[in-house]
Amino acid sequence: MQDESCLITFRLEEDEEDVRVAARVGENLLAVARRGRIPVFAPCDGNGSCGKCRVRILNGKLRASKSFYIADVEYDAGWRLACMAHVMGDATLLVRD
Ligand code: FES
Repeated sequence: MQDESCLITFRLEEDEEDVRVAARVGENLLAVARRGRIPVFAPCDGNGSCGKCRVRILNGKLRASKSFYIADVEYDAGWRLACMAHVMGDATLLVRD
C-alpha cells in the first residue's frame, strides 16, 4: 500500500491554476508540495511549530491529526497543516497565497 502512487492536485487560489504532482500513499504532503514547486509557506521548515503551511481539502482525504493551529471549525472545513499531513490517495487541495 505504501508504494501506491496517486495524484495530488494543488489549486493555487491566487493564480486560479491547478498543478498536479505525482505522490505516493503515505508521503508527507509538504514534501510533495515542494517537489512540485508549490508555494506553500513553511517558515518553520515543516516541524509543525508555525502553523503557516495550511491547505484545505477540496476533494479526497489526507491523514493528519488535529493541530493547535487549526481550530475545530477549520478542521471540519478541511484545513490541515501540510507538514503534518500524509497522502492517502488522489486529492485536490486549495493553497492560498
Ligand atoms: S511548516 Fe510550520 S507548521 Fe508546517
